[in-house]
Amino acid sequence: MIKTITRFLALAICLSTTIIATASASQFEKDWHTDSNYQDIVTTHIHLDLAIDFDNKQLKGTIEHQLKYINKDTDSLILDTRDIDIHKAEVFDGKNWSNTTFKLAKRDKVKGSKLTIALPKHSKKVRVHYNSRPEASGLQWLTPIQTAGKKLPFMFSQSQAIHARSWMPIQDTPAMRVSYSADIKTDPSLRPIMSAKNDPKWNKSGQYHFEMPQPIPTYLIAIAAGNIHYKKMSKQTAIYAEPSLLESAAAEFEDTQAMIEAAEKLYGKYRWTDYDLLILPPSFPFGGMENPRLSFITPTVIAGDKSLVSLIAHELAHSWSGNLVTNATWRDLWINEGFTSYVENRIMEAVYGEQRAVMEQALSVQDLKKELVTLPKEDTILHVKIEGRDPDDAFSGVPYTKGQLFLMFLEEKFGRKDFDSFLHQYFESHAFKSMDTKNFVRYLKTNLLDKFPNKVSMKEVNTWITEPLLPSSAPNPTSGVFNQVQENMNAWLSNDTKLSKIPTDEWTVHEWLFFINNLPKTVSLKRLNELDKAFKLTQSTNNEIAHAWLLLNIKKNNPVINNRLKTYMISIGRRKLIVPLYKELLKDKTKRAFTQAIYDKARPGYHPLAQGTIDALFEKK
Ligand code: BES
Ligand code: ZN
Repeated sequence: MIKTITRFLALAICLSTTIIATASASQFEKDWHTDSNYQDIVTTHIHLDLAIDFDNKQLKGTIEHQLKYINKDTDSLILDTRDIDIHKAEVFDGKNWSNTTFKLAKRDKVKGSKLTIALPKHSKKVRVHYNSRPEASGLQWLTPIQTAGKKLPFMFSQSQAIHARSWMPIQDTPAMRVSYSADIKTDPSLRPIMSAKNDPKWNKSGQYHFEMPQPIPTYLIAIAAGNIHYKKMSKQTAIYAEPSLLESAAAEFEDTQAMIEAAEKLYGKYRWTDYDLLILPPSFPFGGMENPRLSFITPTVIAGDKSLVSLIAHELAHSWSGNLVTNATWRDLWINEGFTSYVENRIMEAVYGEQRAVMEQALSVQDLKKELVTLPKEDTILHVKIEGRDPDDAFSGVPYTKGQLFLMFLEEKFGRKDFDSFLHQYFESHAFKSMDTKNFVRYLKTNLLDKFPNKVSMKEVNTWITEPLLPSSAPNPTSGVFNQVQENMNAWLSNDTKLSKIPTDEWTVHEWLFFINNLPKTVSLKRLNELDKAFKLTQSTNNEIAHAWLLLNIKKNNPVINNRLKTYMISIGRRKLIVPLYKELLKDKTKRAFTQAIYDKARPGYHPLAQGTIDALFEKK
């Protein structure tokens, strides 16, 4: 009898949690950036059958959607597409496939063209025959000359935020999740890999199968193909890269396993089996992209001294914040990036010590403060309004560093121990689900504010979330090491010491960045050239130092850097490193021809996203 009651209770609890879980998608604010009818019907599994056609710069084949009806009266499936050619749509009734009708709507500038597919008799699956176009915003097709090996072509996807729809007709919203599988055909000289289980062995058959069993939002479906080789680093980590980069990448990122273990200690088990890194060609427009099981990484962080590996900590951190618990709409990006920046820094502290972690905090906060004064006030709000806009256009350091500061503020107020267990619990209880700002605030209130009363008020929380700029209660990380650097700089500028007396031999990249970024606006060219002579900053092979130095010298009209500037801009396509340089150059009308000449040369090598951003800068003036 007792057994039956317990069983009944267990079943009842189980049922009620399923109901809560299915009800949860609609509890979120509607995602403005999708036209799909995801509130009525959702894809639960995607199967791709695609050929990678380098000659025509196209992915060509079919996508199959397995469907789950939320509203049982739904008679059409609406998918997001942008610049895709649709050839045919079919439906599966459980026994047979048959053709069905479809309609492609007029292209919306931001969202693309919605594809409406008729679903007769409760179809269980839909199959769409399509090809992407060469101009797909989510794909870059590189000619051999744009790769490290110069002999074979390379292609890769970058789908966040709303670019997956440019290479797959899908319900493109982070409010829902799909598992996926794929059959991919390539020329046998090229290896495709995906954000899925990858086979370390390359069978060179030209035909490959992939499975991603865990449900992920569509922006995390990723593919790349090229002369990609494999090197194992540790039990869970490996490098995929062109042959000439394998060794240096493996040495640079050898601490990745330690990073996983540090994160697991803080926030619970790594849920994605392996964590591999794909090193892309330099035109990759981001530093990194957290594609699950396989982060995509710019080669510009292979510095030779592990000085820029916080990027790996960042992409890895997304395995909790972002990939496990996902922003429900692009308004909630801070729920991905703010949490990730915070977790990244905790990983850096655990693996490399507090001193380095604090320096990295201080540098990001300085960058944020400089950026805040340049942004429209409304865009400095965490819960930003982006309705009607491309999420890329509202991209800034705000969701990252202001989001991070908000979590640092909570940590400060509640203490590490309680805040850590709060975050750990948050990831556990929302694993494989989405989260929006309103629901997070509610969760925060119940599980932290109310549990430890009188530490933080809801008013303070709301200020962080809904007000522009930084609240007066924002933490202000200061580094003792940087204070020392500042003192040395002051002494040098006031002729109280010589450059050779400053202990620069002991400096890491972080001290250099602080030093360059904090030179007074009035610093003379003579002083800059003195620095350059002593430390060869113009020729620095550290891409962050080179960036900071070039930026400063553009501001100071120092022509000494011009040649280096050209090579830098032509050889790197990472937006964060090049866009600020173009912006600064374009502020000065007399430099326009010079800048245009650089861009004419560099543009063909840039990713469509970088081209879009920089084209807009030229048009503005
Ligand atoms: N997920 C982001 C990249 C992204 C964000 C793409 C929003 C499209 C829309 C990735 O994790 C990231 O933040 N990359 C940063 C890394 C840095 C903050 C350590 C980058 O690329 O610079
Ligand atoms: Zn990120």
